[in-house]
Amino acid sequence: MTKSVLILPGDGIGPEITAEAVKILNKLVETDGLDISMEEDLVGGAAYDVHGVPLADATMEKAHQADAVLLGAVGGYKWESLDISVRPEKGLLRLRKEMGLFANLRPAVLYPQLASASTLKPEIVAGLDILIVRELTGGIYFGQPRGIRVLDNGERQGYNTYVYSESEVKRIAHVAFQAAMKRNKKLTSVDKANVLEVTEMWREVVEEVAKEYPEVEVKHMYVDNAAMQLVLNPKQFDVMVTGNMFGDILSDEASMLTGSIGMLASASLDENNKGMYEPSHGSAPDIAGQNKANPLATILSAAMMLRYSLGREDLAVKIEEAISKVLDQGLRTGDIWSEGCTQVTCSEMGDAVVAAL
Ligand code: IPM
Ligand code: MG
Repeated sequence: MTKSVLILPGDGIGPEITAEAVKILNKLVETDGLDISMEEDLVGGAAYDVHGVPLADATMEKAHQADAVLLGAVGGYKWESLDISVRPEKGLLRLRKEMGLFANLRPAVLYPQLASASTLKPEIVAGLDILIVRELTGGIYFGQPRGIRVLDNGERQGYNTYVYSESEVKRIAHVAFQAAMKRNKKLTSVDKANVLEVTEMWREVVEEVAKEYPEVEVKHMYVDNAAMQLVLNPKQFDVMVTGNMFGDILSDEASMLTGSIGMLASASLDENNKGMYEPSHGSAPDIAGQNKANPLATILSAAMMLRYSLGREDLAVKIEEAISKVLDQGLRTGDIWSEGCTQVTCSEMGDAVVAAL
């Protein structure tokens, strides 16, 4: 049966990078019997400019109906002064929340060809393969109450609430343990249990869930130490599981180990593996419209979509191998370029991946 994919290019470099991923999907439709239909719609600032909101209800409904969503990026200078309730980021957060996409998988994998593109020494990052499992629909991103209020003395006070219920921790822990079982069976749970009660409980719940996975070696690490260990000795990690905000921060950090945030894909899944797929990077408004962006994180996200939501593991592998081939050919966008390589544009990179398929 034909599966439906909703494409939400978004803002900044979003349209350029998703166009390359769509190119690759179209090629697979032609040559590999990929049976999908694609429809595009607006999200983020692009949606705000047309609808006055960063995600129209009709688009939300399409996302519910689709088998998978592929998203570019949201945000940009143009919308930074808008009220926080209608900022581009709210469109993305609404999609995540209303689709119940609590499990965000962010694999930080170093392609050996890019070892010299990392700012760390090649021997520190060679062979790196970390999976960050980030809780995506709870924590301080969504906790109530939140806001900015005026105190009796006239001073303003900003406040957010960091909250997790046991069930939320349990379900993300299960996702992380199951992922670890398929990999090297090592799980690091990242918290700040020495200061924050919410993560003290997080640690206790992870310990309980661990009993169901006796083969997995579990470690708990404070987030400050985890940030340091990621640059000191990143290969000690296999799967990392953490809350929404720590995961946001650590995944950006981990991406740089792989050479560039332009390489980091992500899948955000619900209970039934229905998902939204997006690069982990932002909309990079400084280079938008210049055909300079690295489309590989989005193309790799499309590969994750084939794997988790469209039942085509074979085509996911095919895309990953094609990317490896293109890197072997020495083709690089600016962010991953190093001496001796050929610099290509965003669309040339997409074309090269198509050719390598
Ligand atoms: C990410 C991004 C988003 C987040 C922003 C754009 C809301 O940084 O996906 O990591 O904070 O989750
Ligand atoms: Mg982020």
